[in-house]
Amino acid sequence: MHRVLRFEHARRMKEYVQNIAPGIFLQELLSKPGTVGAVCPSSRFLAASMAQEVPQDEEGLVIELGAGTGVVTQALLNHGVDPSDLLVIEYSAVFVQRLRQRFKNLNIVHGNAADLCQLVPAGRKVRCIVSSLPLCSLPRTVTQAILQQWLTLLQPGNVAIQFTYHLREPEWSKNLAMLRTNSKIVWANFPPANVSTYSVEQTQEATLGR
Ligand SMILES: C[S@@+](CC[C@H](N)C(=O)[O-])C[C@H]1O[C@@H](n2cnc3c(N)ncnc32)[C@H](O)[C@@H]1O
Repeated sequence: MHRVLRFEHARRMKEYVQNIAPGIFLQELLSKPGTVGAVCPSSRFLAASMAQEVPQDEEGLVIELGAGTGVVTQALLNHGVDPSDLLVIEYSAVFVQRLRQRFKNLNIVHGNAADLCQLVPAGRKVRCIVSSLPLCSLPRTVTQAILQQWLTLLQPGNVAIQFTYHLREPEWSKNLAMLRTNSKIVWANFPPANVSTYSVEQTQEATLGR
């Protein structure tokens, strides 16, 4: 019995290491620290916490930004997002290659979230945006361009889900013309992270607050 448990434990550990590819994450972190913006991949608890915020009874695309090693991608699939409704955008060619190997049936686009409107297939309605982008460490102009894309694509009632390592409200969100409707801290992550859900208000115009 113990031997079976040990074998199962070792099998899971091997699968985990293969999936998160710590060597590749470290290599990307060292070559582009501001773009990766994290010291290690998101934990599955953080990923599940983000996925839980995705509305389930709505139609349309779920867009994942900055998928990295794919921990959040997997959580979105586990949450029941249909593969044909998931659009994954990742800037790093190395991560894109890994993601395409791991998720063969997903639409994984090698692109910049600042050009999001051009990357969404024409005529597809968007349900929500799930972002692991390091909005605090990207250049301010890039962050502003990314947020503007969200506001262009999301309709009133739609949500954007973002994690940060700031346990308080991050600077970039202060002028965002979206309402923070939920915020929770996930302690089981290194470092602990805050998952916030932002909703496009019914009455406001799709512009940045300033
Ligand atoms: C915090 S890491 C992702 C963590 C991911 N959840 C994981 O566990 O691997 C941020 C990711 O955003 C990507 N990224 C940064 N800037 C981007 C941009 N402008 N467009 C798309 N992806 C971007 C980075 O390449 C990196 O994979």
